[in-house]
Amino acid sequence: MTQPEDLFSLTGKTALVTGGTSGIGAMIAKGLLRQGVRTYITGRDRERTEQAARKLQAKSGGECIGLAADFAHADGPAALARKVADREGALHILVNNAGTSCDGALSELSVDAWDEVMAVNLRAPVFLIRALLPLMKAAASNEDPARIINLGSIGGLHVPGWEAHPYGASKAAIHHVTRSLAKSLGGDRITVNAIAPGPFPSKMHDADSEATRKAIASFIPLDRAGQAEDAQGAVIFLASRAGAYVNGHILPLEGGYIGAL
Ligand SMILES: NC(=O)c1ccc[n+]([C@@H]2O[C@H](COP(=O)([O-])OP(=O)(O)OC[C@H]3O[C@@H](n4cnc5c(N)ncnc54)[C@H](OP(=O)(O)O)[C@@H]3O)[C@@H](O)[C@H]2O)c1
Repeated sequence: MTQPEDLFSLTGKTALVTGGTSGIGAMIAKGLLRQGVRTYITGRDRERTEQAARKLQAKSGGECIGLAADFAHADGPAALARKVADREGALHILVNNAGTSCDGALSELSVDAWDEVMAVNLRAPVFLIRALLPLMKAAASNEDPARIINLGSIGGLHVPGWEAHPYGASKAAIHHVTRSLAKSLGGDRITVNAIAPGPFPSKMHDADSEATRKAIASFIPLDRAGQAEDAQGAVIFLASRAGAYVNGHILPLEGGYIGAL
C-alpha cells in the first residue's frame, strides 16, 4: 500500500514525451525528470532533439534521451516505437504531446493542411499507442497501471472565436479516442486520459500576444495563461499512484475557461 506522502512519487519510472523539444512537452519532460523519471523526448530533427534533451538534463538532472520522429509520415509512430524498444523493456508513461495547428477560413483550407493536422494530432498518437503496447503491458500491474496521457485542447471542447477547423476536429477526436481506448486497454492495466489545455506559452501559441492577452483577460476566470507547474502537476497526478483510478477522462487545464462558458 502506498503511503499518502508517496502518492505522487514517480521515482524509477520511464516515460516518453512526444514533442518534448519545446512548449508544453518540454515543461512536462522537465517535471518528470525532476521526479526521477528516465525521460525520452522527440522532435523532427535528430540533432536539435538531442540538443534539447541535453539542455533538459543539464537543467533538471536525471536522464533525458532525445529521439527523432516525424508524425506527418505514416510510419513515424512505428519507427519511434522500435527505437524505444531497442533501449527499454518496459514503458510506464506515454505522453502524446506532439502537435501542430492550422488556423484560417474554410475557403483557405488545403487538403494537405487538413491531412497534416490529422496525421500529427490524431493518427500518430493512436498508432504510437498501438506500437508501444508490448512495452506498456510489460510496465503495467493491478496496483500500478501504465499510463497514457494525450494532449487534447480546449479547442476540442468548444468552438473558439477564430476559425481552426482541422485543429478543433483533431482535438475533439483525440478526446473521443481517449475514452474509447480507456475502455479497450483497461483490461491490460493501462489507463488513458487526456489533458485539454487553454493558452500556454509555446512555439505554437504566443501566449504573450495582444490577442491572447485580451482573450485571457475576458474569458479566463483566473486571469492568466498556463504555466509549467500547471502542466507538470496534471501529468504527475495522472501518472502517479494518486491518479491510478482515473481512466477515460479529459482534464481541462484552463483556469476555468470552459466551466465559465
Ligand atoms: N500551447 C497551447 O496553448 C496549447 C493549448 C492547447 C493544446 N495544446 C497542445 O499541446 C501540445 C504541445 O503544443 P505546444 O503549444 O507546446 O507546441 P510547440 O511548442 O509548437 O511544440 C510542438 C511539439 O510537437 C513537435 N512536432 C510538431 N510537428 C511534428 C511532427 N510532424 N512530427 C513530430 N513532432 C512534431 C515539435 O517538435 P519539433 O518542432 O522539434 O520537430 C514540438 O516538440 C500540442 O498537442 C498542442 O495541440 C497547446
